Amino acid sequence: MKRTLITLAMTLSVAAPALADQALATSKNCMACHAVDKKLVGPSYKDVAAKYAGQKDAVDKLAAKIMKGGSGVWGPVPMPANAQVNDADAKKLAAWVLSLK
Ligand code: HEC
Repeated sequence: MKRTLITLAMTLSVAAPALADQALATSKNCMACHAVDKKLVGPSYKDVAAKYAGQKDAVDKLAAKIMKGGSGVWGPVPMPANAQVNDADAKKLAAWVLSLK
């Protein structure tokens, strides 16, 4: 049983990295304010991906914003700092957001 679960987990993480990263976003509370394809409190992640498409430094820039928060890019509502997100997870989340189409 244990082995089956491990195999399943490995298969899922290989076959569905996008889902794994959405799970990370959910666990970090990002999905309370964001959805993949519609605006909630914050912009939809697809809109974010479209805005930064082709920008080389977008992952670093968005990772910093995810950790520190900020406002003025999408409107007056600020994103609070997400102190529960470390550097590695912020980069992973930024890369996932940018990969959405
Ligand atoms: C309390 C609500 C809230 C939470 C929680 C939240 N965000 Fe945001 N987010 C916002 C708002 C509002 C904006 C728009 C900020 C602006 O206009 O500059 C935003 C903007 C963004 C952007 C675009 C930044 C830019 O400069 O274009 C990204 C990427 C993002 N959020 C990712 C995340 C991730 C990943 C998490 C989870 C760690 C998260 N957000 C959690 C409200 C939130």
